[in-house]
Amino acid sequence: MRLLMAAVLLLAPTLAQAWPWSMDMANQISIKPQESADTQNPGMRPFPKRSVPIPGTTSLVKDREVAEKQSNPVPADEKSIALGGKLFQIYCTPCHGYSGKGDGLVGAKLALTPYNLTADQTKARSDGFIWGYMTFGGAVMPSYANDLSDTERWNVINYVRKVLQNEHSATAVTPQAK
Ligand code: HEC
Repeated sequence: MRLLMAAVLLLAPTLAQAWPWSMDMANQISIKPQESADTQNPGMRPFPKRSVPIPGTTSLVKDREVAEKQSNPVPADEKSIALGGKLFQIYCTPCHGYSGKGDGLVGAKLALTPYNLTADQTKARSDGFIWGYMTFGGAVMPSYANDLSDTERWNVINYVRKVLQNEHSATAVTPQAK
């Protein structure tokens, strides 16, 4: 009985990860995320007073239906299209591919093939619909409301419209573009 008690006592700290060496890897001198190397300047800006964490997305637009009714407030000028292209390259090409046709490397692994954004179906969609899709996500497609600001999402739409859905355009972003 005593032996058993001793064994239990010995094992307890192991289960609780309380051995000093079980934390050695975490407690290094390396700088942790959101920590600053400069003791005078703490790394992370403190959250504003009364801020609370929220689940889901941060859009002020209620749902897809409301989103669809909006019209695109960002003119599709050169600047907007260039910015939209950059963002499309970062956030959309893994699934929809550089061509927008749904041939991205990640997309190939999904149960539902990402839609071809240059097909008639998406061409016929309103800008507000596409904006809502990026905001709330789809069945498989995730929401991009936390990654792309409201305006950035309109820029992406301008890129999709003017470059990807326009077969005569030669300004598409490519894997080589920096
Ligand atoms: C993780 C993979 C993935 C990424 C990244 C992704 N999508 Fe999608 N997308 C999908 C899939 C899968 C669908 C098919 C429908 C669904 O999931 O609801 C889709 C559908 C869509 C549709 C609906 C088209 C239609 O006509 O109904 C739009 C618009 C769209 N994506 C735009 C984008 C844009 C813009 C981006 C970049 C901000 C993006 N997607 C990033 C996977 C992705």
